[in-house]
Amino acid sequence: MIHTSACDVLGIEHPVIQAGMAGHTNAELVAAVSNAGGLGILAGFRRSADALVQDVRRVRSLTDRPFGVNFVLHLLNEETFRAALAERIPVFSLYRGDPADAVAQAHAVGSLVIDQITTVAEAEYARAVGVDVLVAQGAEAGGHTGLLPLWNLLPEVVKVAGSRPVLAAGGIVDGQGLAAALSFGASGVLMGTRFLATPESPATPAHKQAILAAQLGDTVASPMLDILRGEEWPGIQVRTFRNPLTARWAGHEAELRSAVAEVRAEQERARAAGDDSLTIRLAGEGVARIHDLKPAGQIVRDTVAEAEQILQKLNSQID
Ligand SMILES: Cc1cc2nc3c(=O)[nH]c(=O)nc-3n(C[C@H](O)[C@H](O)[C@H](O)COP(=O)(O)O)c2cc1C
Repeated sequence: MIHTSACDVLGIEHPVIQAGMAGHTNAELVAAVSNAGGLGILAGFRRSADALVQDVRRVRSLTDRPFGVNFVLHLLNEETFRAALAERIPVFSLYRGDPADAVAQAHAVGSLVIDQITTVAEAEYARAVGVDVLVAQGAEAGGHTGLLPLWNLLPEVVKVAGSRPVLAAGGIVDGQGLAAALSFGASGVLMGTRFLATPESPATPAHKQAILAAQLGDTVASPMLDILRGEEWPGIQVRTFRNPLTARWAGHEAELRSAVAEVRAEQERARAAGDDSLTIRLAGEGVARIHDLKPAGQIVRDTVAEAEQILQKLNSQID
């Protein structure tokens, strides 16, 4: 049994955390992960207070285990955040922005705080303002992500975190990733893309199918999605599947800025014609190693069992 400081701090059995993913979580997924002994996290980003509270209450009807809600702080919906405080959710998961106020408010209602960081400076700040668990998110991650590769960022964040647990995120999909993360000093893993390929996940069937069919190198990170949305995140890129739009515009962002209306119209025309080839789908670089649609609870159990086997095998090689 793998038991780490992340398990103690978060009150969970296994150090496997499911990422809060905007538009890609629901109560069934979150409860399945928490019921299996991991920590499920609902997305709070781009959600109304009412919708979030409904989901929080549904999670509570499905599990009595800890779970979290994720917020993107630089684009925070204050009303939704206040609703989560009022619900006294067990864990707040934060990303971007300044976490100081959010940490104080969460602690004041007895909640724990996980903060996802992409640089060592952000890790230093997170520690200074009292974040309970840090997530070192590498550039391999699906969705919005920083620029540093996980296996270079992680050990530096572990040094900065001191006694606080650090979770590794970005391209991790299995027990091999968990075993590697532990060997780099992490106390667990946070996985997003792996949990999209589950029956519980609200990802579209086409998104799930794309994950199962993916080969190494099928994702690319660039700021183009945010440019198209008219909502730039400084210092951050978005990792998505490659498609004809990324082929044309990734790396040509300056040019894209003056063609946004045209590209949006092109996407709209394709959508209206039932052609989804220009749909942008988020995914991490671990997609190439996801080969099956598996229940979320099974992913938690398999990840831990596989990591245990690997660590035992490695241990047996030491005289
Ligand atoms: C579809 C999708 C949506 C995401 N949305 C969010 C979000 O709303 N908030 C956030 O903090 N991170 C978000 N992320 C990033 C995850 O928190 C996490 O860092 C990432 O999934 C880890 O990499 P992996 O997908 O390779 O496991 C998202 C990731 C994906 C794949």
